[in-house]
Amino acid sequence: MVKKRKSPLPGPTDQRIDALLALLAENATIVISGAKIAKEIGVRRQTVWQWIETLRAAGVQVKGHPRTGYHIEQMPDVLAPQLLSRRLHGTPFAKRIFHFFKTDSTNSVAMHLAETGEPHGAIVIAEQQTAGRGRSGRSWISDKSAGIYVTILLRPPISPMLAPALTLVAGLAARDAIAEETNLQPDIRWPNDILLNDKKVCGILTEMQAEPDRIHFAVVGIGINVNQQKMHAELAAIGTSLRIETGRVHSRLELLARLLRHLDRYYNQFVAEGAAPILRRFAEVSSYFEGKRVRITTAKETFEGTTAGLESMGILRVKRDDGKTEAVISGTVAEAE
Ligand code: BTN
Repeated sequence: MVKKRKSPLPGPTDQRIDALLALLAENATIVISGAKIAKEIGVRRQTVWQWIETLRAAGVQVKGHPRTGYHIEQMPDVLAPQLLSRRLHGTPFAKRIFHFFKTDSTNSVAMHLAETGEPHGAIVIAEQQTAGRGRSGRSWISDKSAGIYVTILLRPPISPMLAPALTLVAGLAARDAIAEETNLQPDIRWPNDILLNDKKVCGILTEMQAEPDRIHFAVVGIGINVNQQKMHAELAAIGTSLRIETGRVHSRLELLARLLRHLDRYYNQFVAEGAAPILRRFAEVSSYFEGKRVRITTAKETFEGTTAGLESMGILRVKRDDGKTEAVISGTVAEAE
């Protein structure tokens, strides 16, 4: 159970609403009576009616009324834990899924859960974030049900020195999921921005708590622009969505399941074999690996140079124009003219 936080936002979605959603989604073509639903999920008919209203408010098109019964007009694209869990069998992400219709930031929720002992593999999903956080103190616009806003709690048995490679693991998983879903070839801008046609479609914010020799936990927050028809004005020049690039609507549920299955695969490979295969894969799929003109902005300075591969832990090497090679541990990377 999530401990109460100070936020006035609603808590995680009631598991019985989740059950109701799964029931309606599985029987999408039939009308199910309110009485039958009430019996199946163990609540009063009046409660079923109230929850149907909650689902409608969240954008699920449920037809019918208490007397005749209900059915779903269109398969809902809600990231319902029961529906997701079925697609994640055999991964550690199937068991502890915390779903919110609205929260401030899934990373903040996951940090709190991690601090209160939630195990490896728990995931936090929101249909909408009111204070989505990006890298370097930026915010992440998180409109209702347009994108995927998910945070994965990991407790990796690795040294904090390898944390940059863990960041690449998440980027590779997101890249492969988007490639599979769109049949396009997404690029990765180091460390883990995913680009389609040179515009950002996915961002990742990894936060962790560690001691010098061990990581207590890492929360990996992933935001993907999925079904936005157009981007907010301030992002239009630099950001895009899957829908804008492919011209069609995508199932967020299937995309999220793909993302988590790829994450499971890369994460296991990383823990078993170390960073080397991860770096090799990054070199295969990222145009930023080598020979890319870039502008780097760190807390200290901004400089230009050419990328020159990765160090063994996943840190980017950049050859400055004065000939000196720099290891970039963190900062913003932009393509330079
Ligand atoms: C970036 O600046 O590129 C990182 C963006 C990360 C956004 C995601 S959305 C889910 C998770 N919750 C947050 O508050 N941020 C991350």
